[in-house]
Amino acid sequence: MAYDLDQFITDARASLKRDPGPQGREEIRVNLERLLSNKDFVEKYCGDKAERGLKVLYEDPELKFQVLAHINEKGRVSPPHDHGKSWAIYGQATLYTDMTEWEREDDRSDPKHAKLKVAKKYRLTPGHAGIYQDGAIHSIDYPDKSRFVRVTGTNLDKIDRVRFDLKTGVIEQMTPQMAT
Ligand SMILES: [Fe+2]
Repeated sequence: MAYDLDQFITDARASLKRDPGPQGREEIRVNLERLLSNKDFVEKYCGDKAERGLKVLYEDPELKFQVLAHINEKGRVSPPHDHGKSWAIYGQATLYTDMTEWEREDDRSDPKHAKLKVAKKYRLTPGHAGIYQDGAIHSIDYPDKSRFVRVTGTNLDKIDRVRFDLKTGVIEQMTPQMAT
């Protein structure tokens, strides 16, 4: 039987209960790739008929992680940002997302400014998932109709997160619904 959303959620719960750290999350990343290789799942939740916008597919009442479908109509280039004290896994469903991972070059003594340098750049293509651990900084760049499924450690709208202005180095607090 194809690997479906229910099985993915059951496995994610088991992984995080066994190890809420990087190893448990890595198991979720691998399982998200399995889920995205299920054509029926992709068609149902990320296909042409899927409702546009951001949809919460699941929120765990106990462990608080979320599974989100990002059904994008328009392309977007995000600023570098973190996911606060949470982690996030991005799994590509259709088209692609260009990912950039950033490192801080400054000594973090100024809470309002940062200097970033590129650590890694790569393209996520359908069926591939990338993981961004707590505090990691990344930016995303995707074309019209690119769609992805994201798993986050908690509801990111409820925690403090920051984004970085590359030109000025200014660190800004993110507000809810700034999405990715
Ligand atoms: Fe992100």
